[in-house]
Amino acid sequence: MASIFIHGVSFFFFFFFLFFSVSLSDPRISEAGSICGTFKPPPKSRFIPTFIEEMEAISELLTTRNWTTHFVNSTPPMFALSQCFNDLSHNDCLLCYAASRTALPRCLPAVSARIFLDGCFLRYENYSFYKESTDSLRDSVNCTSELGEIDESDKLGFGENVRVVVENVTRTAMANGGFGIGEVNGMFGLAQCWGSVEPAGCRTCLEKARRSITSCLPSREGRALNAGCYLRYSTVRFYNDKAEEQDHDDQNGFSGRRAVAAIVLASVASLIIAISAAFACYTRISNLKKKKKKQSLIPISFRDSDVNFKYETLEKATNYFSPSSKIGQGGAGSVYKGTLPNGKIVAVKRLVFHTRQWVDEFFNEVNLIRGIQHKNLVTLLGCSIEGPESLLVYEYAPNRSLDQFIFDKKEVQILNWRQRFNIILGTAEGLAHLHEGCKMRIIHRDIKSSNVLLDENFNPKIADFGLARHFAADHTHLSTGIAGTLGYMAPEYLVRGQLTEKADVYSFGVLILEIVCGRRNSSFTENSTPLLQTVWDLYKSGRLSEAIDSCLNKDYPAKEAMDVLQIGLLCTQALASLRPSMATVVKLLSSEGERKVSIPEQPPFLNPCGASRRSCRVSSLVSKLDVSSCTSTDSGSSSSNLPSRTGDLTELNPN
Ligand SMILES: *[C@@H]1O[C@H](CO)[C@@H](O)[C@H](O)[C@H]1NC(C)=O
Ligand SMILES: *[C@@H]1O[C@H](CO)[C@@H](O)[C@H](O)[C@H]1NC(C)=O
Ligand SMILES: *[C@@H]1O[C@H](CO)[C@@H](O)[C@H](O)[C@H]1NC(C)=O
Ligand SMILES: *[C@@H]1O[C@H](CO)[C@@H](O)[C@H](O)[C@H]1NC(C)=O
Repeated sequence: MASIFIHGVSFFFFFFFLFFSVSLSDPRISEAGSICGTFKPPPKSRFIPTFIEEMEAISELLTTRNWTTHFVNSTPPMFALSQCFNDLSHNDCLLCYAASRTALPRCLPAVSARIFLDGCFLRYENYSFYKESTDSLRDSVNCTSELGEIDESDKLGFGENVRVVVENVTRTAMANGGFGIGEVNGMFGLAQCWGSVEPAGCRTCLEKARRSITSCLPSREGRALNAGCYLRYSTVRFYNDKAEEQDHDDQNGFSGRRAVAAIVLASVASLIIAISAAFACYTRISNLKKKKKKQSLIPISFRDSDVNFKYETLEKATNYFSPSSKIGQGGAGSVYKGTLPNGKIVAVKRLVFHTRQWVDEFFNEVNLIRGIQHKNLVTLLGCSIEGPESLLVYEYAPNRSLDQFIFDKKEVQILNWRQRFNIILGTAEGLAHLHEGCKMRIIHRDIKSSNVLLDENFNPKIADFGLARHFAADHTHLSTGIAGTLGYMAPEYLVRGQLTEKADVYSFGVLILEIVCGRRNSSFTENSTPLLQTVWDLYKSGRLSEAIDSCLNKDYPAKEAMDVLQIGLLCTQALASLRPSMATVVKLLSSEGERKVSIPEQPPFLNPCGASRRSCRVSSLVSKLDVSSCTSTDSGSSSSNLPSRTGDLTELNPN
């Protein structure tokens, strides 16, 4: 019964997304093709940091335009071009770029790569290629299509339609600054030249594309992927219509016909969400009731509070969302402190409806969180879905978040060793529960000190574990292309977008070091050594105890503190497969007496020269997006037994 219902809900959602994405906009992030170069950069070059710097720079530039080039002067130099197709809205352009940028690193460390998504293009090289229009070796067509092939009898007319539409859109593109869309008898086409390609190059490129794309016949869909342009035909209307797009182009994206469509869709959506959220809440209540019968461990607060909250109640509880009651800002929305009529204090998370991601996140959050209960995870008390915006109600953590206690020492009390240890252990348990304790595997992907909340007894509770699966709506996530916080992000996730539980383990390791040392890992300040580097260096020279927060006044069990730090280093090893699972971490932390903590390997992004060589410049990608290679003059021996940059990267690749 329940499963039928869930199927029904997912079916609705499927439809909803289909409808919504077609009707409003679609970043078209499906991949049409990619080419990785075969040459590798010379050993010891700072190639990966250059790549990341390049991608960040393009991210910035794309906030004001729909295509851009950027050059990073290093050895080897890096030239990059990113082009969104002109029919994409600005937001979709950023999303498409983020997707391309997340996919491209699988080519690393090749000195050249290009990727064609159906909405944008991204390429980098070690030379200036911006004006290239064709490439006899690498231009290609992609005719594979789930739409299949056309019936034998329709072939003639079909081929003719393809030729006409392709002719039409390429001609339009040549006449209109490199972009054209069009339809002929139910056949749709789009042609796009890169902004950096000159008109003559655009013409050459499109003519070649037009010729080569006919080799796709009788596929229902074909794409030509050339050095300077992209051409596609399809029996499905895949592009955003310009005429309607203009309506949509204003900031909010809702006006005229679009607004009507959006409102209708929104009501349908609300209904569906209402049903599923109500169902989620309902399941929760009945689960709670069941559990309550079995054992009386359920928080007493549930007894009085209705899981389905009224919008007005929460509005009043938070004093109409007054700025003074705001306690935080997460990726998915602002958080307010509220007092319910019964006097109970709660945290209300406000999810504002303005993008498609909203639905995604809301659904994610409600769906993920219901049924997940653990003493170290923030409890979802309920939700409100009938008001103008959707609200989630969480238990309130009176001591707010951990970051204030470990970093803003002047402001608040200093945590003693016992408290710190309990926070580390509790967070590990909560995370282990997310990874292995519940029916589905949940990767938090944004473990950091501000996401660890503290209750009145300083017990940790992990917050925000419903983070959007794809892209969160806010800019910081867009600019990294991946959800997460720089400084806590595992190298394989940061560079390749590879996401496993081990990415959480890495973030958790950084958190351990921060808690024990009382310092932030990445402060983005020029001159400070990243914490990870400091701890690693001290560890290598056998002076690990010097890393421990001086505010503790040596009032801690020395062996335990060192063990914990060493566990932190185990969790932050460069190679994901070496990091322990969270379950192992919990076991290690909670074992009484002798802990057998294995010897950690080097964390990522550090100077490969190690701590002992004096002239090595210490820097870190995590703090500066810049890994310098060893500037010491020693050669030969060091390069043979220490991993070079490229070597490090190869290690990241599980193959
Ligand atoms: C061709 O495009 C389809 C649809 O995006 C994609 O699934 C497929 O992998 C592409 N083929 C190649 C060879 O890249
Ligand atoms: C993208 O840029 C081109 C010119 O570079 C412009 O003609 C086009 O309208 C832009 N498209 C959008 C959606 O802003
Ligand atoms: C680009 O890299 C290739 C392969 O390493 C090399 O042969 C070529 O000289 C490089 N070009 C420039 C401009 O550095
Ligand atoms: C493309 O097709 C449209 C509609 O069929 C037509 O109005 C337009 O003139 C054509 N453009 C070109 C360049 O052939």
